[in-house]
Amino acid sequence: MTVLALFNLIQEDLAKVEEKMRRAGQEAEGPLADAIIYLLSSGGKRIRPALTIAAARHYPVDTEALTSLAAAVEMLHTATLVHDDVIDGSLLRRGNPTLNARWSAGATVLAGDYIFARAAIFAAETHSVPVVQLFAETLAVICSGELRQMFKYYDLDQPLDEYYKRIYAKTASLFAAAAALGALLAQAPEAHIAAFREFGHYLGMAFQIVDDILDFVGTEDTLGKPIGSDLRQGTITLPVFYYLQRGGDRNLIVQVFNAQGEEKQAALTRALEAIQVSGAIDAAREEAWEFAQKAQKALEIVPDTPYREALRDIAAYVVERTY
Ligand code: IPE
Ligand code: IPE
Ligand code: MG
Ligand code: MG
Repeated sequence: MTVLALFNLIQEDLAKVEEKMRRAGQEAEGPLADAIIYLLSSGGKRIRPALTIAAARHYPVDTEALTSLAAAVEMLHTATLVHDDVIDGSLLRRGNPTLNARWSAGATVLAGDYIFARAAIFAAETHSVPVVQLFAETLAVICSGELRQMFKYYDLDQPLDEYYKRIYAKTASLFAAAAALGALLAQAPEAHIAAFREFGHYLGMAFQIVDDILDFVGTEDTLGKPIGSDLRQGTITLPVFYYLQRGGDRNLIVQVFNAQGEEKQAALTRALEAIQVSGAIDAAREEAWEFAQKAQKALEIVPDTPYREALRDIAAYVVERTY
């Protein structure tokens, strides 16, 4: 798989971003510094800042501003993960205990807020009002997406459209912004900025569908986060929609929601088997692939550069990834 092509191309830029984020961590106070450094050094695919850099590098662009912007994008993502894990009550992330596994919920939320603030400071360092505006709008959309999801827990009668709105808001909006922001910073023509935004949007949809699939068929070891957590917490994802559409047994899902203790794991295993046999996972994967192809197509109008090729490859990687 050629995901490496992108990371090879942007290696120098990304190293600057890492350094910048690490410095921000060191500048924080006491335990907060430790927490941020811990979060940043625990890995993460860095796919969103990679999109920002690759989009921007289609054009001449100021390296320092680009470094700030890509750091802003990754810090924003990091903060959403910190909050997401509190909300989900998740104890493992990137193979390590989450912050909320060690700190109180209150302290963890504040640490997330601090990281959001650092992200905003980075965004402001670009001295571009349109950049800061898109950045803030995106954060607003992500928050509303996470809330949207919470208000639909356990609702097996919600329309499929609700799922698409939710994954756009919580995930694809940031992918769209990550790519568009790079082009915006580089003062690319409007049509190109729109193309990068569309690319990121479709890529983000594919990315979240695959994340939702991996929650059923992945392993905790490779993903570094708990498996089966969506259904356990009542979040209905695409494989479940497809399973029900295909006449799957609703009761199997309801049993997962209602079961307690050890019985919950057993109910989860039964539901997973039924979902897999129904072909719902394959159908969801097929759909992720369609989104990825739309993402690739959106790039047709942007300049033909090695960065564009690498972004096309990323779209394929997103569907085929196992973590
Ligand atoms: C996890 O994102 C959150 C989702 C939107 C599914 P990633 O899978 O990009 O997480 P890291 O940064 O690589 O850990
Ligand atoms: C996370 O979606 C979206 C955001 C962080 C905003 P998930 O809840 O599916 O992400 P994971 O699976 O915990 O990484
Ligand atoms: Mg989560
Ligand atoms: Mg998930």
